[in-house]
Amino acid sequence: MNYGYFDELSKEYVINRPDTPSPWCNYLGSVDYGAIISNNATGYSFVKSGASGRIIRFRFNSASNDQPGRYIYIRDNSDGDFWSGSWQPVCKPLDKYKSECRHGTAYTQISSSYRSIDTTALYFVPLDKNYEVWQFKIKNNGSEQKNLSVYGMVEFTNHDHYENDTVNLQYSQFISKTYFKGDHILQVINENGSEASSDVDGHCDTMGDPSCRFFGVAGQTVSAFDGEREAFLGYYRNYGNPLAVETGKCSNTAAYNCNSFGALQIDITLAPGEEKEMVFILGAGNEEIAKSVINKYNGEAANTISNVVNTQFEELKKFWHARLNNLQVNTPDSNLNNMVNVWNAYQCFITFLWSRAASFQYCGLRNGLGYRDTVQDIQGIIHLDDKLARERLWLMLSAQVSNGGGLPLVKFDHKAGHVKTPDESEYAKSTGQSYYRADDALWLFPTVITYIKESGEWSFIDEVIPYADKGEATVYNHLRQAIQFNLDRQGSHGFPAGLFADWNDCLRLGTKGESMFVAFQLYYALVIFKEFAQKKGLSDDVKWADEHLDRLSTQFDQYAWQEDQYVRGFTEDGYTIGAKENAEANIWLNPQTWSVISGAAKGEKAKTALNSVYNKLNTKYGARLFYPPFKKYGMPVARMVLFNEGTKENAGIFSQPQGWLILAETIVGNGNRAYEYFTEINPAAMNNHAEIRKLEPYVHGQATEGIDTLNHGRSHVHWLTGTASTVMVSLVNGILGLQPQYDGIKLDPCIPSAWKEFTMNKVFRGKMLNIKVENNEGVEKGVKYIVINGKKLDGCYISCDDIADTNDVLVVMGK
Ligand code: GLC
Repeated sequence: MNYGYFDELSKEYVINRPDTPSPWCNYLGSVDYGAIISNNATGYSFVKSGASGRIIRFRFNSASNDQPGRYIYIRDNSDGDFWSGSWQPVCKPLDKYKSECRHGTAYTQISSSYRSIDTTALYFVPLDKNYEVWQFKIKNNGSEQKNLSVYGMVEFTNHDHYENDTVNLQYSQFISKTYFKGDHILQVINENGSEASSDVDGHCDTMGDPSCRFFGVAGQTVSAFDGEREAFLGYYRNYGNPLAVETGKCSNTAAYNCNSFGALQIDITLAPGEEKEMVFILGAGNEEIAKSVINKYNGEAANTISNVVNTQFEELKKFWHARLNNLQVNTPDSNLNNMVNVWNAYQCFITFLWSRAASFQYCGLRNGLGYRDTVQDIQGIIHLDDKLARERLWLMLSAQVSNGGGLPLVKFDHKAGHVKTPDESEYAKSTGQSYYRADDALWLFPTVITYIKESGEWSFIDEVIPYADKGEATVYNHLRQAIQFNLDRQGSHGFPAGLFADWNDCLRLGTKGESMFVAFQLYYALVIFKEFAQKKGLSDDVKWADEHLDRLSTQFDQYAWQEDQYVRGFTEDGYTIGAKENAEANIWLNPQTWSVISGAAKGEKAKTALNSVYNKLNTKYGARLFYPPFKKYGMPVARMVLFNEGTKENAGIFSQPQGWLILAETIVGNGNRAYEYFTEINPAAMNNHAEIRKLEPYVHGQATEGIDTLNHGRSHVHWLTGTASTVMVSLVNGILGLQPQYDGIKLDPCIPSAWKEFTMNKVFRGKMLNIKVENNEGVEKGVKYIVINGKKLDGCYISCDDIADTNDVLVVMGK
């Protein structure tokens, strides 16, 4: 069953049935002003943080599914019938009410058609602004004049902090007021001076400026308003039947000691065929700011609204499309194209910008960036915006502690050189984190090398960057120190300790238990470090890396390889996790894939490990994290036993590792299998099975239910997940084979043998490569030759010397 389709040309996903199996969302805005909106206009907005900068309410997990949001009601005053511009919240019968939602790159447009009245609401945050606009157009397609009332509304929070607003009503209700200011409702919190910190208990220590928000309208005159929620909704009612809309009259009530609200009533008449337009604006700021923003849209000339909105909208679209256009592909699989060209790419940017902070599952209470997540997220955007990637990479290097480990949580106001570390109690007090993770800084290796090779900025390796706590070092030495961190923390087999967690948050191996995932990561780190050391001509460092690589290789064979698979680790008391003889969890995904990605498993061993995954872990919706699930034996080390079997880290199909699986298969040359794995978890490929997957068919989720649950194939936790970046990397680098090098680029696709040809347009260091790949022999991997601008090159490498501003590139695959 499907609820919509991809509009490739306009880079939009179009939802033509509003009763989707879960709210299907989109992200608007930037780090300064963020907004999340569903296909039914629900969701919330915030300044800087979804938890502590909240402007409007959204009730997580409410029984009505998702409410409230940015609603616009329409009332036909001839008989009092009313509906909403999005299907929710009034929910008119779908045989009489038509609606379409177009989610695009940082905008959402929702149209409705009912009783010959057509409406369109375009929601977006203009570039670099800290407010959102809802351009609303309403047209009479009937043959009679219509007397209508339009009501735009938002439910303000009474406190910036989500928790205070939600559960500390004895405080938050009494600090907020609203005022009607002609073209907007102004909400003022702490008018008499505000608390300086968002103290969850509501203690008011130091006084600062009050916090103001506004909801206004340009283009039409306000007939009435409601600044208090209960005045608008009425008692014992809900958003489906607000009193003000039912009776046709807002009551002109302001809020004082209750729920602040913004509802604006606009009365209009529409002749047959006539269309009117207005712009609702929601933002943070005082009356002066509100006035100046609203006036910008009012202007003097006719059509000012359209002009201002259209210009801002075009700018926004251009901004996003320009980024996405740095890589566009046309393969025989439109579901893959849609992900690479638009949706996986856009999700990578959103995850990059918001980390795991604001979604319909979480609002970001932790106020900081998780180290591993963030360093992974950078990889997803490097091929589209290496400058943006560089800034964040710099930040994360400056959040590495001088002992080499990563800070578990990098606060939004991170001050490199002055941060307490997990070894100090102050850090734990302010972040709730008191231990190092074993893997955090090791993610820097693939990210740094990918950045350098994409951008060509080899000198980045010598850039001096401070450590989080004290001192500074070149990027090269930061990396060496990251390796040292794990060498300094080893267990009895000589593998790195798993510490508080490795990639798997549920695996608590401690200071003596050992993680094979981290062991393979460390191997990979050494491989990359050695490459850097060689390029710098530092033979002592090359030797040092080689010694550890040899040692680890021997240990892998000796302790970690069991017939056809690698084990997952060793506990402090000598139990082997992921051993074949175990009753539960006796084969794990990540050690197999990472043995290949790291280069530690070579030849037949690599293929054998991956075959074990295919035979023992794969399902039609992706590979499970391990199998069988923990039920009796998990604790205390394997805390995923807390999850129901087949779910999340307990033998669920955790989506992020699927990206590594695809990548690993491309490394050993299995294009068919890599593509099969991709298709299993490609959201777009589930477009016609939305009733099974439930999540948006255009974004990855965190996990899909495994075979042990009642709903195998159902996915959870939309948008903000590391899956975005790992799957993107596996597509770009693995399947499509776009592999930048220091002074050139390799084009080495690994594709399904059935693909006879495909094209890619890639911007590489500011130059356009128009690439056509031919595969007449039907191979999965292997390039015979390349022709660039008429010049034939053997193999798959193009040197920068051969790259002009615009290039015609032919890649001929074959044996
Ligand atoms: C979540 C966390 C991530 C972790 C993963 C596996 O996605 O955000 O940091 O690696 O779970 O436990």
